Order: sequence, then C-alpha cells, then structure tokens
Amino acid sequence: MPPAKGEKAEVFRKNAPAQYTSALFTSHVPAIGAAMDLGKTEEPYWKKVFSGYEWTRQWAKENKPDVVILVYNDHATAFDSSIIPTFVLGTGAEYPVADEGYGPRPVPDVKGYPELAAHIAQSVIQDDFDLTLVNEMVVDHGLTVPLSLVYGELDPEDEWPVKVIPLAVNVVQYPVPSGRRCYELGKALRRALDKWDGPELNVQIWGTGGMSHQLQGPRAGLINEEWDNAFLDHLIADPLGLTDWDHMEYVDEAGSEGIELVDWLIARGAMDDQFQGDAPSVDHRFYHVPASNTAVGHLVMSNPGAPKNAPANTAANTPDQN
Ligand SMILES: [Fe+2]
Repeated sequence: MPPAKGEKAEVFRKNAPAQYTSALFTSHVPAIGAAMDLGKTEEPYWKKVFSGYEWTRQWAKENKPDVVILVYNDHATAFDSSIIPTFVLGTGAEYPVADEGYGPRPVPDVKGYPELAAHIAQSVIQDDFDLTLVNEMVVDHGLTVPLSLVYGELDPEDEWPVKVIPLAVNVVQYPVPSGRRCYELGKALRRALDKWDGPELNVQIWGTGGMSHQLQGPRAGLINEEWDNAFLDHLIADPLGLTDWDHMEYVDEAGSEGIELVDWLIARGAMDDQFQGDAPSVDHRFYHVPASNTAVGHLVMSNPGAPKNAPANTAANTPDQN
C-alpha cells in the first residue's frame, strides 16, 4: 500500500513502481574530468584513479537505471553570491554543460525528467523541505564528472544513457545545511519515490563530492585518510549516527571543502534500511590518494531488492587502496 496522504512514512513501499535500486557515491574532482577530456587517463598518475571505476563501468552497463537523481553541489557556476539556494531541484528538460573558465567540457548536455521531478517537488515540499525549483540552469563538473566516471568518454553529440534529475546542495557559501538535514532530505526523497504511481522506474541516487580536501589557507592540501575511511564505514553501517557529526567536524577533519560529503547522506538516507528494510549490499568500495589535491572515495551500494547483475568484484571491501 502507498503511504497515506500527508503521512511521513517510516516504512518503505514494497513493489513500488519507482524502485530505488542502487546508491552510488563518488568524488567529483574537476581534474578527473580534465584528465578524461585531455586523454590523460592512461598516464600512471591517473590510471590509479580510474582503476577504481573499472568495476563500476562494467556494473553500470548491466544496471542501467531509467533515471539518476544526482546530488552534487554547484561551484559558483550556475549560482553565485546573488542567489544562494540551499537545496535546488532541477525540474527542467535539459541542462547545458557549463563553461567553468576553459569552455564547456566536451560532453553531452544532460537530459532531465520533468514529470518525475515535478512529482518529487510536490511530495518533498509537502514533506516540509523548501526546495528551490529550477527549470533552467547550467551544470558544472560537480554533475558531469560523476557521469563521465561511470559512463566513460562521450562526445557532445552523444547522449548520456540515463535521464538525470539534478539536486544541488549549497556547501560553498555559508551557512551550509547539516548532515542531519541532508539525511532527512534523503528520507523525504524516498517517500516521494514511494508515492510515484506513474510508469515503472529503476531509480538510482548518487551522492557526490568530497572527500577530504582544502583548497585555500594555511591548511591547503589537507587530506585525512583515517577520517575519510571512518566516514565511509559509518556511511555504510551507521548513517543515522553520522548525522550527529556537525559541519565543523567535517571542516576540522576533512578540510573546508570536505563539507561536500554531506551530499552523500541524501542518497544514503533514502535506502531501504532507513525505512525498516534490510541492510544494503556493499558492491564496491574504493579509496585513493591523491587526485589533484583531494582524496577520492567511491562506493556502490544496492538495496536488497535490486537485480543482482554485479560483475565479479576485485576491489570490494578494500578500504585503503592507494
Ligand atoms: Fe566539489
């Protein structure tokens, strides 16, 4: 049965038309996009980074969702100090690739899913989250680098194999939302998916950003492997506990830009086990230092009902691959 109208369901809807199958978590380092765009992926430095995504690319071929809700943060590209929305839901049909100073990345524009986005907007706003709805915006590396990591090199005239609903979280201009708020938004997002009575959909939610990095000030270059891996452990096994970590914990331990990791809690908060279901599987885990001046983290997790099309995993449960 679908949840009653107005009710904040704490149990997920089994056999819902919109099935949240898998969550994917990844850094979205701009230099990774540049390495792909400039043909440097085979260079030893970058090969180590991309090796952590080989499994994922195979998995992605066999587990293609209809739509990805892609949680990321804009980097003062679509939004600047003139408007600072905390949570932006992309409700448009198409999002051009942004010019971040070197011309737009040579990748396809992103196709949206306005019908599902409108449904999510209705449900999530009625669930007490004041989203900003945006029909027209450019998308920067925060959104396109994860797509490139998972779906590989595509030309601008190609099409991404999935529709994307962008969900941008402000973690650039203070005040930023707490991890708890992001987790709760994830729960509202799952309630929205559970209320969908349209066509059957395979939905993935991706949480992107991080891991530890700091771009400026005396601590520029900060990387904290121990903290990053503790974050991954908690994200897997105790996401609710993770919501006790306030934003200064992220800043102190993971650097000023490590706060991007709160984006990941949205995808995790929506999973079955946060709605009295069983724990997700950890299909793939990768961690690597460095990429540019950051730590790269990557996880694929699936809800128990997801189709089991996982390729053999050589990298799972190897948290500290350098
Ligand atoms: Fe970022």
